[in-house]
Amino acid sequence: MKEKKLEITVYEADNVKELAPADSALLHEAINATKNAYAPYSKFNVGAAVLLDNGEIIHGSNQENAAYPSGLCAERVALFYANSRYPNVAIKAIAVNSTVNGKENHDPVYPCGDCRQVLLECENRFGKPIKVIMGSASKIQAVRSIKDLLPLSFVLKRE
Ligand code: THU
Repeated sequence: MKEKKLEITVYEADNVKELAPADSALLHEAINATKNAYAPYSKFNVGAAVLLDNGEIIHGSNQENAAYPSGLCAERVALFYANSRYPNVAIKAIAVNSTVNGKENHDPVYPCGDCRQVLLECENRFGKPIKVIMGSASKIQAVRSIKDLLPLSFVLKRE
């Protein structure tokens, strides 16, 4: 077999002030949404803010459950609500933030595998790239498209 290298581009900032105004505004929305998380089991609170093509911002936070797998990540809470409220409006960007045990996290929060798959569906469904902004109290990272976080991704093709 031949070796094939795949390349992804990740943008990085040391501070929220380094972000473009629209990105820092969206991250602030995600930081606020973190406060609404219900995470008594993990104590890992996550907030997400989704920017739609019509300018609307939809918020989500992780919602846990005593039956652990019944809970849902902040990203999917926001994405599914955005798509059910505005089924014909593309998603332009999502920002995510987290706290651990009530303290600010200094590592960016990266969407889990399931959320990446849902983000991919949202991207493909509207044919527009979704910028993903992954925040923390220190480093902030961003990718221009979910495909940078989920290369070689699964799509259902029926012949
Ligand atoms: N979680 C999110 O909400 N988003 C992520 O990107 C990572 C993980 C939640 C799920 C669970 O409630 C808690 O964080 C710990 O895994």
